[in-house]
Amino acid sequence: MRPVFGVPTFCIITGASAGIGRCMSIELSKLLGKGSVMVLVARSKIGLMETKKLVLQAVSSEKDLQVYTVSHDLSKSNTNLLDNVFSHAEGVDFRHAILVNNAGSLSDITIKLSENDDVSALDSFWSLNLSSFVALTSAFIGKFRNASDVRKTVVQTSSRTSEQPTPGLSLYCAAKAARLMLFKVLAIEEPDVRVLSFGPGPVNTDMWDSLQQISVPEMRQFFSHMTASGQVRDATEPVRHLLDILQADEFVSGSHMLMPDKVIESQ
Ligand SMILES: NC(=O)c1ccc[n+]([C@@H]2O[C@H](COP(=O)([O-])OP(=O)(O)OC[C@H]3O[C@@H](n4cnc5c(N)ncnc54)[C@H](OP(=O)(O)O)[C@@H]3O)[C@@H](O)[C@H]2O)c1
Repeated sequence: MRPVFGVPTFCIITGASAGIGRCMSIELSKLLGKGSVMVLVARSKIGLMETKKLVLQAVSSEKDLQVYTVSHDLSKSNTNLLDNVFSHAEGVDFRHAILVNNAGSLSDITIKLSENDDVSALDSFWSLNLSSFVALTSAFIGKFRNASDVRKTVVQTSSRTSEQPTPGLSLYCAAKAARLMLFKVLAIEEPDVRVLSFGPGPVNTDMWDSLQQISVPEMRQFFSHMTASGQVRDATEPVRHLLDILQADEFVSGSHMLMPDKVIESQ
């Protein structure tokens, strides 16, 4: 069997400037083999540079890990992005290629579905959450298609809302549901690629904080309660759980794995 970790790996992580993506970059870097390359994608150059610094602090210099940052708005055209990202995949005999589709957004959650009449805002949302997701995944598979000795893994950060209609989060639910189905189909079409959707559960990030702006008062209270009752985790726990799943390599390709709920002891 081709090893999962500890080998020269080409790895792309989107949404790496903050939150779960930053944590994923740091934790994954510790598992990569000598001579690996990591490409971190997001808009914020400052955020990406900070992640790069933390990654390089986390690994020994003997690993010779190369970390590249690509500042790009994934809601916009991706021609330069793909050239830029895959230019870093040359010249190394990789044994594993990993794409982590983690970037995502909530959309304008201060309004309900029936108030969404701004087509350009909608286009921008679908571009970030779906079109760039498909295009990057497709380019990634194309890049490594003929490399039969390279293990290929594509992961996406999913959510329970992909299967659960949530008032106030209509576009987010729809994007996550579509991504889930896209990955299920991908797994059938590409048996040589390990495909996984992973839902990290509630995680303490900027996105989680933004949920306080949700238009539906009951949901605002629900999310507040989750925070107050300690159900929201630091990113490290779900990220390590995901990496354990990848390492064990027992998941059915295309499946949806969710972080188990945090058990709250009653006082
Ligand atoms: N936090 C949770 O409880 C939770 C639960 C389930 C699933 N998730 C999913 O986990 C993923 C990460 O979320 P998070 O909680 O870590 O959120 P976050 O802290 O807000 O991070 C979002 C990341 O996406 C990037 N991003 C946003 N818009 C972008 C754009 N237009 N172009 C390029 N990059 C963009 C951001 O970077 P820039 O702003 O620098 O571009 C940032 O790196 C998302 O897909 C989210 O749906 C989160």
